[in-house]
Amino acid sequence: MSFSVHPITPTFAAEIGDLDLRVAMSDAEFEALEDAFNTYSVLVFPDQALSDAAQLAFSARFGPLETTIQKFRKGVKLRLGPEFADVSNLGADNEPLPADSERRHFNSGNRLWHTDSSFRPVPAKCSLLYARSIPPTGGQTEFADLRAAYDGLSADMRARLEGLVAEHSIRESRRKIGYDQFTEDEIKGLPAAPQTVVRTHGDSGRRTLYLASHAERIFGMDDAAGKALLAELIEHATQRQFVYSHRWRVNDLVMWDDRCTMHRGLAFDDLRYKRNMQRTTVRDFAPTCEQEGIALKDIIAAE
Ligand SMILES: [Fe+2]
Repeated sequence: MSFSVHPITPTFAAEIGDLDLRVAMSDAEFEALEDAFNTYSVLVFPDQALSDAAQLAFSARFGPLETTIQKFRKGVKLRLGPEFADVSNLGADNEPLPADSERRHFNSGNRLWHTDSSFRPVPAKCSLLYARSIPPTGGQTEFADLRAAYDGLSADMRARLEGLVAEHSIRESRRKIGYDQFTEDEIKGLPAAPQTVVRTHGDSGRRTLYLASHAERIFGMDDAAGKALLAELIEHATQRQFVYSHRWRVNDLVMWDDRCTMHRGLAFDDLRYKRNMQRTTVRDFAPTCEQEGIALKDIIAAE
Protein backbone atom coordinates (compact mmCIF):
# COMPACT_ATOMS: atom_id res chain seq x y z
CA MET A 1 0.00 0.00 0.00
CA SER A 2 1.50 3.30 -1.04
CA PHE A 3 -0.66 5.68 0.99
CA SER A 4 -0.59 6.31 4.73
CA VAL A 5 -3.50 6.11 7.19
CA HIS A 6 -3.57 8.49 10.16
CA PRO A 7 -6.49 7.66 12.48
CA ILE A 8 -8.17 10.65 14.11
CA THR A 9 -9.69 8.36 16.75
CA PRO A 10 -8.90 4.62 17.05
CA THR A 11 -12.15 3.61 15.31
CA PHE A 12 -13.66 6.69 13.66
CA ALA A 13 -12.29 9.08 11.01
CA ALA A 14 -8.82 8.93 9.48
CA GLU A 15 -6.66 11.14 7.29
CA ILE A 16 -5.15 9.58 4.20
CA GLY A 17 -1.71 10.83 3.19
CA ASP A 18 0.60 10.30 0.23
CA LEU A 19 -2.20 9.81 -2.24
CA ASP A 20 -3.04 11.86 -5.32
CA LEU A 21 -6.64 11.04 -6.20
CA ARG A 22 -6.11 12.15 -9.79
CA VAL A 23 -3.96 9.06 -10.38
CA ALA A 24 -5.84 5.82 -10.98
CA MET A 25 -5.23 3.30 -8.19
CA SER A 26 -4.35 -0.34 -8.69
CA ASP A 27 -6.99 -2.86 -7.55
CA ALA A 28 -4.84 -3.83 -4.55
CA GLU A 29 -4.39 -0.23 -3.52
CA PHE A 30 -8.11 0.45 -3.91
CA GLU A 31 -8.93 -2.59 -1.78
CA ALA A 32 -6.65 -1.27 0.97
CA LEU A 33 -8.44 2.06 0.77
CA GLU A 34 -11.82 0.33 1.03
CA ASP A 35 -10.55 -1.48 4.15
CA ALA A 36 -9.67 1.88 5.72
CA PHE A 37 -13.07 3.23 4.72
CA ASN A 38 -14.91 0.26 6.24
CA THR A 39 -12.92 0.64 9.46
CA TYR A 40 -13.02 4.42 9.98
CA SER A 41 -16.25 5.46 8.14
CA VAL A 42 -14.89 8.96 7.45
CA LEU A 43 -11.77 9.50 5.34
CA VAL A 44 -10.11 12.89 4.87
CA PHE A 45 -7.92 13.38 1.80
CA PRO A 46 -6.08 16.69 2.22
CA ASP A 47 -4.62 18.85 -0.49
CA GLN A 48 -6.29 17.31 -3.56
CA ALA A 49 -6.38 19.32 -6.79
CA LEU A 50 -9.46 17.76 -8.37
CA SER A 51 -11.22 18.60 -11.58
CA ASP A 52 -14.92 17.64 -11.74
CA ALA A 53 -13.93 14.72 -13.96
CA ALA A 54 -11.35 13.49 -11.42
CA GLN A 55 -13.88 13.63 -8.57
CA LEU A 56 -16.39 11.71 -10.68
CA ALA A 57 -13.83 9.08 -11.69
CA PHE A 58 -12.64 8.44 -8.12
CA SER A 59 -16.22 8.37 -6.76
CA ALA A 60 -17.42 5.96 -9.45
CA ARG A 61 -14.93 3.32 -8.26
CA PHE A 62 -17.14 2.84 -5.19
CA GLY A 63 -20.30 2.19 -7.22
CA PRO A 64 -22.99 3.84 -9.37
CA LEU A 65 -23.48 7.57 -8.80
CA GLU A 66 -26.71 9.29 -7.89
CA THR A 67 -28.05 12.28 -9.74
CA THR A 68 -29.06 15.38 -7.81
CA ILE A 69 -32.60 15.84 -6.47
CA GLN A 70 -32.37 19.39 -7.77
CA LYS A 71 -33.49 17.96 -11.11
CA PHE A 72 -36.96 17.64 -9.51
CA ARG A 73 -36.91 21.30 -8.58
CA LYS A 74 -38.39 23.83 -10.92
CA GLY A 75 -36.48 26.88 -12.05
CA VAL A 76 -33.13 25.79 -10.57
CA LYS A 77 -30.23 26.46 -12.89
CA LEU A 78 -27.55 23.94 -11.98
CA ARG A 79 -24.03 25.29 -11.42
CA LEU A 80 -22.62 21.76 -11.67
CA GLY A 81 -23.31 18.59 -13.65
CA PRO A 82 -26.28 16.39 -12.65
CA GLU A 83 -24.04 13.90 -10.81
CA PHE A 84 -23.04 16.60 -8.32
CA ALA A 85 -25.06 17.81 -5.36
CA ASP A 86 -24.31 21.52 -5.07
CA VAL A 87 -23.66 21.95 -1.35
CA SER A 88 -22.48 25.54 -1.79
CA ASN A 89 -24.23 28.74 -0.72
CA LEU A 90 -23.80 30.06 -4.28
CA GLY A 91 -26.23 30.84 -7.05
CA ALA A 92 -25.72 30.32 -10.78
CA ASP A 93 -23.73 33.59 -10.82
CA ASN A 94 -21.28 32.12 -8.26
CA GLU A 95 -22.27 34.73 -5.69
CA PRO A 96 -23.78 34.00 -2.24
CA LEU A 97 -27.52 33.36 -2.32
CA PRO A 98 -29.48 36.33 -0.92
CA ALA A 99 -31.24 36.21 2.45
CA ASP A 100 -34.68 35.62 0.92
CA SER A 101 -33.52 32.85 -1.46
CA GLU A 102 -35.73 29.76 -1.52
CA ARG A 103 -32.71 27.52 -2.15
CA ARG A 104 -30.90 29.04 0.84
CA HIS A 105 -33.87 28.09 3.00
CA PHE A 106 -34.02 24.58 1.52
CA ASN A 107 -30.28 24.05 1.99
CA SER A 108 -30.43 25.10 5.64
CA GLY A 109 -31.98 21.64 6.20
CA ASN A 110 -28.39 20.34 5.94
CA ARG A 111 -27.80 21.75 9.43
CA LEU A 112 -29.98 18.95 10.83
CA TRP A 113 -28.36 15.58 11.54
CA HIS A 114 -28.99 13.33 8.57
CA THR A 115 -27.57 10.72 6.29
CA ASP A 116 -27.66 11.45 2.58
CA SER A 117 -30.52 10.11 0.48
CA SER A 118 -32.25 8.06 3.18
CA PHE A 119 -35.42 9.42 1.55
CA ARG A 120 -34.69 7.36 -1.58
CA PRO A 121 -35.79 3.71 -1.84
CA VAL A 122 -32.17 2.70 -2.46
CA PRO A 123 -30.28 5.12 -0.24
CA ALA A 124 -26.67 6.25 -0.43
CA LYS A 125 -23.66 4.07 0.26
CA CYS A 126 -21.20 6.92 0.58
CA SER A 127 -20.75 10.61 -0.17
CA LEU A 128 -17.63 12.47 -1.30
CA LEU A 129 -17.49 16.20 -0.62
CA TYR A 130 -14.83 18.42 -2.13
CA ALA A 131 -14.05 21.92 -0.81
CA ARG A 132 -13.18 24.55 -3.41
CA SER A 133 -13.58 27.48 -1.02
CA ILE A 134 -14.42 27.73 2.67
CA PRO A 135 -15.44 30.48 5.07
CA PRO A 136 -12.73 31.69 7.52
CA THR A 137 -14.85 30.62 10.49
CA GLY A 138 -17.76 28.20 10.96
CA GLY A 139 -19.09 25.82 8.32
CA GLN A 140 -17.55 22.69 9.86
CA THR A 141 -19.10 19.33 9.05
CA GLU A 142 -19.79 17.06 12.03
CA PHE A 143 -20.02 13.29 11.73
CA ALA A 144 -21.65 10.85 14.17
CA ASP A 145 -20.51 7.22 14.39
CA LEU A 146 -23.71 5.15 14.31
CA ARG A 147 -21.93 1.79 14.74
CA ALA A 148 -20.37 2.99 18.01
CA ALA A 149 -23.72 4.51 19.00
CA TYR A 150 -25.39 1.15 18.37
CA ASP A 151 -22.76 -0.61 20.47
CA GLY A 152 -23.48 1.91 23.23
CA LEU A 153 -27.20 1.03 23.45
CA SER A 154 -28.53 -1.20 26.21
CA ALA A 155 -29.32 -4.80 25.27
CA ASP A 156 -32.99 -4.03 25.94
CA MET A 157 -33.01 -1.12 23.52
CA ARG A 158 -31.16 -3.12 20.85
CA ALA A 159 -33.80 -5.85 21.13
CA ARG A 160 -36.58 -3.27 20.95
CA LEU A 161 -35.22 -1.81 17.70
CA GLU A 162 -34.92 -5.12 15.85
CA GLY A 163 -37.23 -5.22 12.84
CA LEU A 164 -38.43 -1.61 13.16
CA VAL A 165 -38.89 0.33 9.93
CA ALA A 166 -39.09 4.12 9.70
CA GLU A 167 -40.52 6.23 6.92
CA HIS A 168 -38.09 8.83 5.55
CA SER A 169 -38.82 11.76 3.26
CA ILE A 170 -37.10 14.97 2.17
CA ARG A 171 -40.33 16.79 2.98
CA GLU A 172 -40.05 15.76 6.63
CA SER A 173 -36.56 17.24 7.16
CA ARG A 174 -37.65 20.41 5.34
CA ARG A 175 -40.84 20.58 7.40
CA LYS A 176 -38.61 20.68 10.47
CA ILE A 177 -37.02 23.91 9.19
CA GLY A 178 -40.33 25.42 8.12
CA TYR A 179 -39.87 24.82 4.38
CA ASP A 180 -42.88 23.56 2.43
CA GLN A 181 -42.68 24.87 -1.09
CA PHE A 182 -42.60 21.53 -2.87
CA THR A 183 -44.64 21.29 -6.04
CA GLU A 184 -46.84 18.30 -6.91
CA ASP A 185 -44.18 17.12 -9.39
CA GLU A 186 -41.51 17.24 -6.72
CA ILE A 187 -43.70 15.34 -4.28
CA LYS A 188 -44.38 12.67 -6.91
CA GLY A 189 -40.70 12.48 -7.84
CA LEU A 190 -39.56 12.12 -4.23
CA PRO A 191 -42.06 9.89 -2.38
CA ALA A 192 -41.33 8.69 1.17
CA ALA A 193 -39.09 5.63 1.54
CA PRO A 194 -39.06 2.88 4.19
CA GLN A 195 -35.74 2.29 5.97
CA THR A 196 -34.82 -0.10 8.76
CA VAL A 197 -33.90 1.59 12.05
CA VAL A 198 -30.99 -0.81 12.56
CA ARG A 199 -29.04 -2.64 9.89
CA THR A 200 -25.89 -4.61 9.31
CA HIS A 201 -23.05 -2.76 7.66
CA GLY A 202 -22.24 -5.46 5.17
CA ASP A 203 -18.62 -4.57 4.52
CA SER A 204 -17.65 -4.86 8.20
CA GLY A 205 -20.38 -7.15 9.54
CA ARG A 206 -21.10 -4.67 12.35
CA ARG A 207 -24.63 -3.67 13.39
CA THR A 208 -25.46 0.01 13.17
CA LEU A 209 -28.25 2.47 13.76
CA TYR A 210 -29.65 4.05 10.60
CA LEU A 211 -31.10 7.47 11.39
CA ALA A 212 -31.76 10.87 9.85
CA SER A 213 -33.87 13.96 10.30
CA HIS A 214 -35.64 12.71 7.16
CA ALA A 215 -37.27 10.00 9.35
CA GLU A 216 -40.85 10.95 10.11
CA ARG A 217 -42.48 7.98 11.82
CA ILE A 218 -42.07 4.31 12.62
CA PHE A 219 -44.42 1.78 11.02
CA GLY A 220 -46.74 0.11 13.51
CA MET A 221 -46.09 2.67 16.24
CA ASP A 222 -48.26 5.48 17.46
CA ASP A 223 -47.07 8.66 15.70
CA ALA A 224 -45.96 10.49 18.84
CA ALA A 225 -44.22 7.42 20.26
CA GLY A 226 -42.36 6.84 16.98
CA LYS A 227 -41.22 10.45 16.80
CA ALA A 228 -40.10 10.35 20.43
CA LEU A 229 -38.09 7.18 19.85
CA LEU A 230 -36.41 8.64 16.74
CA ALA A 231 -35.55 11.82 18.66
CA GLU A 232 -34.16 9.80 21.59
CA LEU A 233 -31.96 7.72 19.27
CA ILE A 234 -30.62 10.79 17.44
CA GLU A 235 -29.83 12.44 20.77
CA HIS A 236 -28.03 9.30 21.94
CA ALA A 237 -26.07 8.93 18.68
CA THR A 238 -24.85 12.52 18.58
CA GLN A 239 -23.28 12.66 22.03
CA ARG A 240 -19.78 14.11 21.84
CA GLN A 241 -18.02 10.76 22.27
CA PHE A 242 -19.52 9.57 18.96
CA VAL A 243 -18.83 12.78 16.97
CA TYR A 244 -15.90 13.98 14.84
CA SER A 245 -16.05 17.63 13.78
CA HIS A 246 -14.23 18.38 10.54
CA ARG A 247 -12.68 21.81 10.14
CA TRP A 248 -12.35 22.22 6.37
CA ARG A 249 -9.29 23.29 4.41
CA VAL A 250 -9.46 24.28 0.76
CA ASN A 251 -8.92 21.22 -1.44
CA ASP A 252 -9.99 18.70 1.20
CA LEU A 253 -11.98 15.79 -0.15
CA VAL A 254 -13.87 14.07 2.65
CA MET A 255 -15.78 10.85 2.10
CA TRP A 256 -18.14 9.24 4.57
CA ASP A 257 -20.15 6.08 4.87
CA ASP A 258 -23.86 6.94 4.69
CA ARG A 259 -24.79 3.45 5.85
CA CYS A 260 -23.42 3.95 9.36
CA THR A 261 -22.95 7.68 10.02
CA MET A 262 -24.94 10.88 10.26
CA HIS A 263 -23.60 14.34 9.53
CA ARG A 264 -24.59 17.99 9.63
CA GLY A 265 -23.06 21.24 8.39
CA LEU A 266 -22.56 23.98 10.97
CA ALA A 267 -23.67 27.55 10.43
CA PHE A 268 -21.39 30.27 9.03
CA ASP A 269 -21.84 33.83 7.77
CA ASP A 270 -23.25 32.64 4.46
CA LEU A 271 -24.39 36.05 3.22
CA ARG A 272 -20.78 37.23 3.43
CA TYR A 273 -18.53 34.25 2.67
CA LYS A 274 -18.45 31.63 -0.06
CA ARG A 275 -18.49 27.99 0.93
CA ASN A 276 -18.11 26.21 -2.37
CA MET A 277 -18.58 22.48 -1.86
CA GLN A 278 -19.55 19.82 -4.35
CA ARG A 279 -20.70 16.33 -3.49
CA THR A 280 -20.80 13.12 -5.41
CA THR A 281 -22.93 10.35 -3.95
CA VAL A 282 -22.65 6.59 -4.51
CA ARG A 283 -25.82 4.50 -4.40
CA ASP A 284 -26.14 1.45 -2.16
CA PHE A 285 -27.04 -1.84 -3.85
CA ALA A 286 -30.57 -2.46 -2.48
CA PRO A 287 -33.27 -1.03 -0.18
CA THR A 288 -32.44 -1.50 3.51
CA CYS A 289 -35.51 -3.69 4.16
CA GLU A 290 -34.35 -6.03 1.42
CA GLN A 291 -30.81 -6.06 2.85
CA GLU A 292 -32.22 -6.92 6.28
CA GLY A 293 -34.65 -9.55 4.97
CA ILE A 294 -37.66 -7.61 6.26
CA ALA A 295 -40.93 -8.13 4.37
CA LEU A 296 -42.27 -4.61 4.10
CA LYS A 297 -45.71 -5.73 2.94
CA ASP A 298 -46.25 -7.58 6.25
CA ILE A 299 -45.28 -4.44 8.17
CA ILE A 300 -47.66 -2.28 6.14
CA ALA A 301 -50.44 -4.89 6.44
CA ALA A 302 -50.01 -4.95 10.23
CA GLU A 303 -50.63 -1.19 10.51
FE1 LIG B 1 -25.69 15.74 3.64
